Amino acid sequence: MKVLLTGRQGQLGQALVQSVPQGIELIATGRSELDLSDESACGAAVAELRPDWVLNAGAYTAVDRAESEPELAAAVNADAPGAFARALAETGGRLLHVSTDFVFNGAQGSPYRPEQALDPLGVYGATKAAGETAALALPGARVLRTSWVYGPVGKNFCLTMLRLHAAKAAAGEPLGVVADQVGCPTATHTLATACWRAIGADAPLGSTNSSTNASAAIEGPTILHWSDAGAATWYDFAVAIGELGVATGLLERAAVVKPLTTADYPTPAQRPSYSLLDCTASHQSLRLDPMHWRAALGQVLAQVPSATQ
Ligand SMILES: NC(=O)c1ccc[n+]([C@@H]2O[C@H](COP(=O)([O-])OP(=O)(O)OC[C@H]3O[C@@H](n4cnc5c(N)ncnc54)[C@H](OP(=O)(O)O)[C@@H]3O)[C@@H](O)[C@H]2O)c1
Repeated sequence: MKVLLTGRQGQLGQALVQSVPQGIELIATGRSELDLSDESACGAAVAELRPDWVLNAGAYTAVDRAESEPELAAAVNADAPGAFARALAETGGRLLHVSTDFVFNGAQGSPYRPEQALDPLGVYGATKAAGETAALALPGARVLRTSWVYGPVGKNFCLTMLRLHAAKAAAGEPLGVVADQVGCPTATHTLATACWRAIGADAPLGSTNSSTNASAAIEGPTILHWSDAGAATWYDFAVAIGELGVATGLLERAAVVKPLTTADYPTPAQRPSYSLLDCTASHQSLRLDPMHWRAALGQVLAQVPSATQ
């Protein structure tokens, strides 16, 4: 099975490349091989390579910067999946498009089910929502929404907190983190396993509580939700990163984490205050048992090079 991957240098893209299942011919592209802001290049790549699947892990992910770069965010997050969908309709291939909890407004206060109406709060979420619609114009396309993604490489909250814990602890200062936004951290290695499973392939990772038989996983719901298990605020996540950072030897000491409100920490883009995803249907259709986010965090920290600190 031939898979055209986008975003190979992103945090999810790197986890996908590392976990590529046997039997997959992977064509991994990053910005230099395929510019997602160029619709015609996206279509031409599909026409030339004729992949069985496009796994679209590339995205414009700068949530705050998107507020001032809406055209570029829309080109990458909405127009590119649209171009893939149109080209794949010609070649007979399929599309797995990765999306986000930020397509929801966060107001309902209970986990979002896949079929619920979208109501993004900011430009990033709006462009991702438009990308979902564009992707789903292709019969057989799938959208996999996830939340609070982090891993041992790339730019993410976990690596930022490790650095800030070290700096604030050394300075004897508290580390202020928002405590009134609820979601679920998702590790790139569990997310990669779910992505491979969603296209009917089995990652060789033993990294989730995965059953061994992936057959038939390819069919099932069109929209999938995948996060690690449990719930957290950014504050909870930061405390756990400090505790497990010390336990794994990445940190000498953790800083005291001080809870902040969203109002204390204004950002250009508004975030959903509650964005848990109901993943029940995906667990069944992908035949994957989720891992609690704190256990997944321990696995990620074990992969973080100590030089990162
Ligand atoms: N990060 C999160 O917390 C989060 C939460 C929910 C859902 N998601 C979704 O999960 C998916 C993977 O996200 P991630 O965390 O792995 O993001 P990431 O680390 O920011 O990676 C995104 C990748 O897309 C690439 N990209 C951006 N613009 C491009 C362009 N014009 N042409 C080609 N490549 C381009 C980036 O390339 P450069 O490295 O060259 O910039 C980067 O490698 C995305 O669909 C994202 O929306 C992420």
